[in-house]
Amino acid sequence: MAASKSPGRFKQRNAIAPHSQQASARRKSIEEQRRALPITIARQKLVDEVHKNDTLVIIGETGSGKTTQLPQFLLRAGFSKRGKMIGITQPRRVAAVTVATRVAEEMGSELGREVGYSIRFEDATSDLTRIKYMTDGMLLREALLDPLLRKYGVIVIDEAHERTVHTDVLLGLLKGVQAKRTEEHGPKKESLKLIVMSATLDAQGFSAFFNNAKIVYIQGRQFPVEIFYTFTSEADILDASLITLLQIHTEEEPGDILVFLTGQEEIESMDRLIHDRLPRLPPGSLKIQVVPIYAALPSEQQVKAFIPAPPGTRKVILATNIAETSVTIPGIRYVVDPGLVKSRSYNPRIGLESLIVVPVSKAQALQRRLVYHVTRFAFPRPGKCYRLYMEETFKQLENATVPEIKRCNLASVVLQLKALGIDDVLGFDFMDKPPKMAILKSLEHLYILGALTDEGKLSDPVGIQMARLPLEPLYAKALLISANFNCSKEMLSAVAMLSVESIFFVPKDKKKEADAAKQRFLSGDGDHITLVSVMRAFTDEVNKSGGGVVSKKQILRWCIENYINMRSLKRAVDIYRQIEGCIQAINLPVVSCGEDFTSFRRCLAAAFFLNAACLQQDGTYRIALRTLANTQVVSIHPSSIMHGKKLDCVVFNELVKTNKQFIRNVTRIDSLWLPELAPHFYGTRDARRGEWPYRHRNNFRNLNLGVLRSFATALPIAVIFPF
Ligand code: CDP
Ligand code: MG
Repeated sequence: MAASKSPGRFKQRNAIAPHSQQASARRKSIEEQRRALPITIARQKLVDEVHKNDTLVIIGETGSGKTTQLPQFLLRAGFSKRGKMIGITQPRRVAAVTVATRVAEEMGSELGREVGYSIRFEDATSDLTRIKYMTDGMLLREALLDPLLRKYGVIVIDEAHERTVHTDVLLGLLKGVQAKRTEEHGPKKESLKLIVMSATLDAQGFSAFFNNAKIVYIQGRQFPVEIFYTFTSEADILDASLITLLQIHTEEEPGDILVFLTGQEEIESMDRLIHDRLPRLPPGSLKIQVVPIYAALPSEQQVKAFIPAPPGTRKVILATNIAETSVTIPGIRYVVDPGLVKSRSYNPRIGLESLIVVPVSKAQALQRRLVYHVTRFAFPRPGKCYRLYMEETFKQLENATVPEIKRCNLASVVLQLKALGIDDVLGFDFMDKPPKMAILKSLEHLYILGALTDEGKLSDPVGIQMARLPLEPLYAKALLISANFNCSKEMLSAVAMLSVESIFFVPKDKKKEADAAKQRFLSGDGDHITLVSVMRAFTDEVNKSGGGVVSKKQILRWCIENYINMRSLKRAVDIYRQIEGCIQAINLPVVSCGEDFTSFRRCLAAAFFLNAACLQQDGTYRIALRTLANTQVVSIHPSSIMHGKKLDCVVFNELVKTNKQFIRNVTRIDSLWLPELAPHFYGTRDARRGEWPYRHRNNFRNLNLGVLRSFATALPIAVIFPF
């Protein structure tokens, strides 16, 4: 084990070695770490099993070396013959990037050459790439261009227990691909090896799905972990986490702390809270280095979590559930687990998706407890896991998390399946079938957006173009129509900005200053235009300053002065460029409306007409398009610049459910635009009498039977409910 002779790990790291010596020491330490991994002794057996079985399920605890080592074993055993790649999917971008970085280092090759990664909006692979880590969503996209995934000799579905929508679709898809490749080429030559890897023990389900595929267990290393529960339930989780981590810091032995939080906002607040408290730490305490890790963090920042803290410093990692199993961060000894997770929840009845904070499942709590790695300690010492809830509460948790496919909006997945030529989506071989209602809703949604024909097939060109854009169908459509309104640049900015969290940075003690700064970008017409203004101002600043180190500082200063979250904004600019490339690839013009924001607002109305809301007498808003099930009353979220304003009619992009239903990212529109721009859904006749909007009864008159047969009964939306 690394540094096993040195109990004073901080001291040893203090020694300053010349560069090359440092590098060779690091290589040696990596080699030692690899040799000590539980998977290493199982190497030959694993390779033999992959030879013998076309499909294999591998189970092994987090940290046993599955993700980093197995692909290397397979490469050395010749599984990437004839130029074929070994592809490994990850549910999360962070994992794909950090693991690829690590494996490239282990193999002594430059990232992007033999070992690469591919995630949405970022590709680090080349013709030389043999081991490719990618998000599950990216592999699905690749299947659009190469339906039999011929580039791959082996595909590893990693972290299968996470059961993300994309993983679930891949499982079904790959089962078919494997059968087809065997059918075409006979069992050996071009066959596709499939490996499903999971960190939890629920292997039976995967095995059963793949016709009783063989299961291999990797013996894990069990380190003792002490578990603590609270006596009472905690009302303020952030505060409880802060107190716990400070207590660990002042009272416990060295070792890094991992705190599980629910999202970027919570992580950033906690980061600030810790920094506020730093000056008050007792003299002589270790220093604290706070490292955030969450999905939206740019890749180069994510890697920081893996770098050991400098001597005399304790690393405090603030992570989302990303750190449960997807990434292995060495050196963690203490885990603070508030027991909460942000989870997608979709109500197909009303067709709206929201993100809500819910208790974790027992399986998740167990994983969080196990995130404890002692690679740097001389002897395994007990780890400590502080659960910020009562033992009673633990007993009441659900056993396992419900697969995401059962609780999310399926429009994007259904669009991809259609693009893959799978027309009978209801009959697709899902490991766990999503609710039929959810599939029907998404078919209907895509039909409304013009992506499907009356026969339920992908429409040409709209559906085909939408499937090619790596965006939610609603945003893809918005971009497609934006050129007609002369505002594709503005829509691109808006979509890119909506893809990241927290553009504005509002420190608690400087709320006034932050609000004043925001005024500079403010548009009285809504959040979308405000976001566009921020991006315009930022790009101006970047262009003004040119390249170079000085200008980087200048940009940072600009962000600080304007209370802008630079990380988020840079990522948005990145996304902008990527989508711009996709738009150009489908030959759509990229044009700007300049200062004519009315065109842009009209485009927003035309694109997001399904998300329109109208003011009611009591000051609340009601979703404009009313259906039997959809009689939602909403309010404008306090974070919106339109909060507190009384606007006749608005479109919005997000529905958030807390104590009430809020809409976020709101822009004012003219109510008469709806019947004009979405005439099929909003009648024009009675608009002036205040009886709109309503929907034509015969909207689906032309729908064919076939795949969409059940629409007739399943579409409450076809019933008119005038106000
Ligand atoms: O996939 P699994 O959870 O079984 O393990 P892994 O991700 O392959 O990690 C194996 C070991 O590699 C960990 O215990 C870490 O010591 C090390 N590792 C690392 O140092 N940095 C990374 N980015 C990934 C792994
Ligand atoms: Mg792994």
